Amino acid sequence: MKKRVLSGIQPSGKLHIGNYFGMIKRMIEYQESSDLFCFIANLHSLTTLTDSKEMKKLTLDAAMDMLALGIDPNKCHFWVQSDVPEVAELTWILSCITPMGLMERAHSYKDKIAKGIQPNLGLFNYPALMTADILINQSQVVPVGKDQKQHVEMARDIAIKFNNQFGETFVIPKPDIPDEVATIPGTDGQKMSKSYGNTIPIFDDESVIKKAVMGIVTDSKGVDEAKDPESCNIFALYKLFASESEIKELSDKYKAGGLGYGDAKKMLLSKILETFRPFQKKRTELESNIPEVEKILAKGAEKVRITSLDTLNKVRLATGLKY
Ligand code: ADP
Ligand code: TRP
Repeated sequence: MKKRVLSGIQPSGKLHIGNYFGMIKRMIEYQESSDLFCFIANLHSLTTLTDSKEMKKLTLDAAMDMLALGIDPNKCHFWVQSDVPEVAELTWILSCITPMGLMERAHSYKDKIAKGIQPNLGLFNYPALMTADILINQSQVVPVGKDQKQHVEMARDIAIKFNNQFGETFVIPKPDIPDEVATIPGTDGQKMSKSYGNTIPIFDDESVIKKAVMGIVTDSKGVDEAKDPESCNIFALYKLFASESEIKELSDKYKAGGLGYGDAKKMLLSKILETFRPFQKKRTELESNIPEVEKILAKGAEKVRITSLDTLNKVRLATGLKY
């Protein structure tokens, strides 16, 4: 039996290279070897996004981005979260066995509040919805970036609690977070994130990508000075795109001196453009055929509703909701 792998992405802004290396690229690899479930988490975005036009646009954008990058609906399950309403029922049921203390410890909730987001119940309950996404599909592996680790651990805790209380129902999921891509740095060296304004977008005008790369923060060493590759943001990003020998070559140049940060940025820029250019064509094609994208999503949701309903019926039986 193939391993069941699941992950979702919120439609909350332009996808960036942190999303790509932290999650999307690995999903595309997983679809070759496992039973992959990949979805657009619009119910999660609703916790912070209240403009309906923007929600529709970002949902379709995220779907087109993922399809253009290589998510293949013939090789995996690909759908929009709200098209499978069974997940909302499971969220409620799981909320009723989730201790308040567990939810109150969620870093992501505390971080969002600290950033000034007005909390609502949905934002607080976000990890329960994410748990329902994972458990309703009986997922074994959840590839995410490090920022989502605690949420997957909460899903594990809740699954174990449910199984103990009501009998074996759920597979216990595991996060999948390889060290090399756990936290991709942004242009300022912090975690790359839409909410920090430090992203390098995947699909955007060349001038926008160039501006982001040229804005990467470095120390103030001059061209001739020897530089430390391991503490440099440009180098950390370059490593994601380059081969072993290219990485060694740039590392040697840093240590020897003579290479300015501006030149290193140009090398990184051409790697980024070269990597994503082939996907841009597919992205443009999809944009001109939105009904086809909608058809793909509808078909994906239809298939996933079958497996979701199967799990939900087990849960209804186990909890006595089915009388
Ligand atoms: P953002 O922080 O920009 O809002 P999301 O929360 O939408 O990004 O993240 C979508 C997926 O991409 C998640 O699996 C997340 O862990 C991953 N991800 C986002 N930013 C990074 C990063 N800087 N490094 C590694 N993974 C990331
Ligand atoms: N919370 C995740 C994020 O912001 C998105 C997400 C929703 C997800 N449900 C999920 C990821 C289930 C993995 C599994 O990135």
